[in-house]
Amino acid sequence: MSKVLVSYQTLYGATREAASVIADTLEKDYGFQVDLYQLEENKITPDSSDYESIIIGSCIFHGKWGKSAEEFLRNDFTNKNVAVFVCAGFAGEEKLHNQAHRVFLEEVLEKYPRLKPVSMKAFGGRVPRAKIPHIWYLQATKKMPSFGYDTRNLEKVKEWAHELGNLFRKT
Ligand SMILES: Cc1cc2nc3c(=O)[nH]c(=O)nc-3n(C[C@H](O)[C@H](O)[C@H](O)COP(=O)(O)O)c2cc1C
Repeated sequence: MSKVLVSYQTLYGATREAASVIADTLEKDYGFQVDLYQLEENKITPDSSDYESIIIGSCIFHGKWGKSAEEFLRNDFTNKNVAVFVCAGFAGEEKLHNQAHRVFLEEVLEKYPRLKPVSMKAFGGRVPRAKIPHIWYLQATKKMPSFGYDTRNLEKVKEWAHELGNLFRKT
């Protein structure tokens, strides 16, 4: 049976939530055998030779990928289906979505030319108010009101999971 790895890095949980929806959909609706794996610093990364398809997801902070997720992109995934996604507050806003896609996906992937993803998606995110200092939150939302918005949309994540399910089935 075809095996899929859904790997992700998260801090506040939005990327984990998206990765879980993707993993569930591929397992339940498409019958793939799926492993869900959290990429973290100082943790061994999974052996990619076990999988036909690899999905890599990262949270975005200060315009950057999580370090462990970006390091994972350096692997040799020749002959595998690779799909990449990010969860970033601004990517969930209509006005900023295309820019987020370009900066957080296209420009980052240009650094790893041997990686040729079959698909890439930028999803929204959320800054959990309780997890950052109140004064800091107030300052940030004053400068950028949209910083405080919850821009997640799990329906979009699910739609993408179906796209991937169909793509992976064909190969
Ligand atoms: C300190 C800080 C910096 C952030 N920087 C960005 C950013 O540069 N661009 C963006 O779109 N979202 C930014 N965000 C929002 C995160 O992308 C959002 O919280 C996302 O859900 C993080 O993923 P995670 O929940 O999986 O950790 C930032 C949030 C914080 C708290």
